[in-house]
Amino acid sequence: MNIAVIGTGYVGTTTSVALALSGHTVFAIDHDEEKIEQLKTASLPFYEEDIEELLKKLTVTGKLSFTTRLDECIDQCSILFITVGTPSLLGGQADLSYVEEVARAIGNLMNEYKVIVMKSTVPVGTSAKIKNIIINELTKRNLKIPFDLISNPEFLREGKALYDALHPERIVIGCETRKAQKMMKQLYNNVSSEILFTTPINAEMIKYASNAFLATKISFINELARFCERIGANVGEVAKGMGMDSRIGTQFLQAGIGYGGSCFPKDISALMALASENNITLNILQAVTHVNQTQTDWFLEKIKKALGTLSGKRIAILGLTFKPNTDDIREAPSLKMIDYLLQNNAFITAYDPQGTEHVKKIYPSIIYTSNPMEALNEADAVLILTEWKEIIEIDWKTAISIISSPFVFDGRNVLNASDMKKLGYHYAGVGMPDF
Ligand code: UGA
Repeated sequence: MNIAVIGTGYVGTTTSVALALSGHTVFAIDHDEEKIEQLKTASLPFYEEDIEELLKKLTVTGKLSFTTRLDECIDQCSILFITVGTPSLLGGQADLSYVEEVARAIGNLMNEYKVIVMKSTVPVGTSAKIKNIIINELTKRNLKIPFDLISNPEFLREGKALYDALHPERIVIGCETRKAQKMMKQLYNNVSSEILFTTPINAEMIKYASNAFLATKISFINELARFCERIGANVGEVAKGMGMDSRIGTQFLQAGIGYGGSCFPKDISALMALASENNITLNILQAVTHVNQTQTDWFLEKIKKALGTLSGKRIAILGLTFKPNTDDIREAPSLKMIDYLLQNNAFITAYDPQGTEHVKKIYPSIIYTSNPMEALNEADAVLILTEWKEIIEIDWKTAISIISSPFVFDGRNVLNASDMKKLGYHYAGVGMPDF
């Protein structure tokens, strides 16, 4: 099939690559000329493993091409994906202006039946609004062309986006006609995952509910971590024991310094804003947000208590991105920590394999190092904020000789507490007795 994917962010680009790999011919479109020029040279504007290599291959075979011109390829494409961003507005609602702009462009340009697939994360009920925008544009052209607007939410994880796009655990399709259903089945013919066909509004809710539930698991375990620590229990063991019950499961019960990224915080705000517009209070999600927002404060309090004061202390921060294997620093807990440490006159050295350049733009005064050992030099305390492999695998035996005072605060519980203690460190994780 010939497919247009409009919006070349990480979702759009990953979706384009996955569709091209499964045999479709894909036109990836964006109005940002610079971005398209960069993608044409098979270079990614963001960091995501394995995609660049595939871009090179797919662009050479002609299965995937990049363009700014929807008008030049729309007639060849039977399915049009919308994968533009929906950032947060000040009140927490999702900003739909990019989605609406694409809908107007489609309504302006389409000349025959199309299946239009909404992959951007949009508030529940948006598909119906977007449908009306397209109808309005067609009416302006005195046309009555049939089309189907489908909700097909994405469940990709940053850092594992390509794997998730190629091996989705589920495909959710919110769709109203048999014709569109048949075309979507054909589109995903080569993917062996289970497909749930439902209504567009259900599909939109499934996306938000899934992210909200995962965030709930994280805040649940983080709040419990504070409790465990107070009474001398170890949250890691507790989570392990809980997870042995298959009804609970082990995933997303890793206590730490809270969730970040471009999805959980934004999607939960959007869901709560929509609920409030409908006179519903989502009490659980309010608590989830509160726990997440205060988790970094709680962690910083521990550090302050252990060090006495932060003023004049040299703090080594290991990990800046909101999770490993990405260069994304949006809503990363590290940013809140840096803010607080600088306000308290600490001196920071930081290391991250991919996120440094982005953080440098916000905090130019920090010293950034190109390897983790350099960041540890003469540190009064080490903070592990992202569980990058490069950070977990530090030679902690050697490191202790270059650190000033051996305080390690592990915000991701990735090191072995008793091993660290044996090496001579004062080790503090999240939700466990301090060593
Ligand atoms: C999340 C969802 O997992 C994807 O399914 C979804 O498609 C995506 O949002 C989206 O809506 O686009 P992502 O934001 O890439 O994916 O990252 P996650 O792996 O879910 O992690 C989110 C945050 O939770 C990270 O800061 C991570 O460190 C934190 N986390 C995760 C924990 O603190 N503990 C855990 O046990 C798991």
